[in-house]
Amino acid sequence: MAGRLREALGVYVQAMRYPRGTENQRAALWLEHSRRPGWKGVAALELDRAFGPEAPPADADLRRGRLLGVAYGYRGAPDHWWQQQVLAGLRQAGLPEAQIAALMTNYFELTELHVEPGAQGRGLGEALVRRLVQGRTEANVLLSTPEIDGEDNRAWRLYRRLGFGDVIRGYRFAGDPRPFAILGRSLPL
Ligand SMILES: CC(C)(COP(=O)(O)OP(=O)(O)OC[C@H]1O[C@@H](n2cnc3c(N)ncnc32)[C@H](O)[C@@H]1OP(=O)(O)O)[C@@H](O)C(=O)NCCC(=O)NCCS
Repeated sequence: MAGRLREALGVYVQAMRYPRGTENQRAALWLEHSRRPGWKGVAALELDRAFGPEAPPADADLRRGRLLGVAYGYRGAPDHWWQQQVLAGLRQAGLPEAQIAALMTNYFELTELHVEPGAQGRGLGEALVRRLVQGRTEANVLLSTPEIDGEDNRAWRLYRRLGFGDVIRGYRFAGDPRPFAILGRSLPL
């Protein structure tokens, strides 16, 4: 991630249609995330040869591949702002503590998932999520995504297709006026 941070943030800004310059604000945060315990990142690369679904051979020069998509996450922990926010939301919603504990004590947070606009709609997002959670030992995978009318975008369709269910809907994280959904499912996928 450190070696390809600029490229990864470029994909993120294009995918999210954020204004140029947003990448500079996020760089330190993404690096800090990459040092968290249990961090894992995956990328989709465009290579000059096709390899099929298997891993590319050892002689393939992955450094020359253009980055088309990126995803990462880490094991959730009590000192993470995101966990504290989600816990507050679950308590506000009146979920019993035993259920909160079952959800929140052992989970993988899927933090970022982005495919550049020109490469979307080919199954790369799904492949990134599957590769990311493959082999994880956590009981659950959780994520947050902006609420969209009718759940009508690729992110929502992907999460539903992969079996993610509602954990909290219409949640407002501190400092962000947009409503978010917290979605989750058990692992393995
Ligand atoms: C969300 C996002 C990562 C999903 O990635 P994606 O690669 O576009 O999505 P998927 O992997 O789900 O691909 C779905 C499409 O690929 C098609 N597809 C699936 N498998 C395929 C395959 N093996 N070969 C070709 N096409 C395939 C599906 O038919 C589907 O097409 P449709 O959406 O036109 O019906 C991407 O759209 C994105 O970056 N969006 C903006 C950023 C964002 O919202 N991120 C998430 C924030 S929480």
